[in-house]
Amino acid sequence: MITVVGSLNIDFITMADRYPKLGETIIGESFSQAYGGKGANQAVAAAKLSSKVNLIGAVGQDTFGDEYLAYLEKQAVSTNNVERVTHHTGTASITIAEEDNAIIVTPGANYSLTPADIDRHQDIIKQSTLVLIQLEVKNDTVERALEIAYEAGVPVILNPAPYRTIPNHWWPMVTYFTPNEHELALMLKETTLDDEKRQKIITTRGDKGVTFYDEGEEVAILPPKIHVVDTTGAGDTFNGALAHFLAQDVPLKEALKMAVYAASMATTKLGAQSAMPHLTELQAMVDESYVN
Ligand code: RIB
Ligand code: NA
Repeated sequence: MITVVGSLNIDFITMADRYPKLGETIIGESFSQAYGGKGANQAVAAAKLSSKVNLIGAVGQDTFGDEYLAYLEKQAVSTNNVERVTHHTGTASITIAEEDNAIIVTPGANYSLTPADIDRHQDIIKQSTLVLIQLEVKNDTVERALEIAYEAGVPVILNPAPYRTIPNHWWPMVTYFTPNEHELALMLKETTLDDEKRQKIITTRGDKGVTFYDEGEEVAILPPKIHVVDTTGAGDTFNGALAHFLAQDVPLKEALKMAVYAASMATTKLGAQSAMPHLTELQAMVDESYVN
């Protein structure tokens, strides 16, 4: 069983052929709404690969919250530990243009998740094989989850996204950090990596795959060649898949490869969760690429 502590957002996705300049209005190409938020995305990614997944989070007492919880149950993500709070369900305004995306998140309910909520749900953290956390909930909430997992000897993957300063005392409580290249650069401005810290870092590098430290050497794992439609949620798919395979006791290098392939597959459709692969689809993709 995996427990994810993190956000749930409703994503409002606009596609355009370019980004507007400040103060400018332009006409976009299309609009769609999707279930998102890094916490829920990562939970769904792991559940689609057949993990049993709990999500600790918060949504509003609004229709977005109702719809999101009903949807998650269909995705086989347990929502017993999702709080209903008076703030609005989190949102993300996403613009896809110029082969990239730009996202503004308004946390709403996600920032109402408190350390006391984590305490109330601590049993599922303690019973988990692995805990997965991002930075779309508040620091004191993240910290409480880290402490409970650490005391119970449960490994934690901390995806430092969106980036903010990682308190030095978090390092011993985290098994793996999974920054992207941009987040890694910010981390390195604030921390000097000794060997112990270095081996905790797995960096996602877009179409260059991921890098990690294997017996002191930096090793890259490359993704398959695919047609990219929307990279939103690729990092989340990577994290959810990595959690799934590590929780299954798959060795790190093999787990990373599976996670890189899953993340690539997730970029082939619009939206964060819609293109996340099921286990059989992922296995087929991996087998196919061994043949070619
Ligand atoms: O990582 C992608 C996610 O970031 C989106 O689903 C959006 O909700 C933001 O949280
Ligand atoms: Na996608």
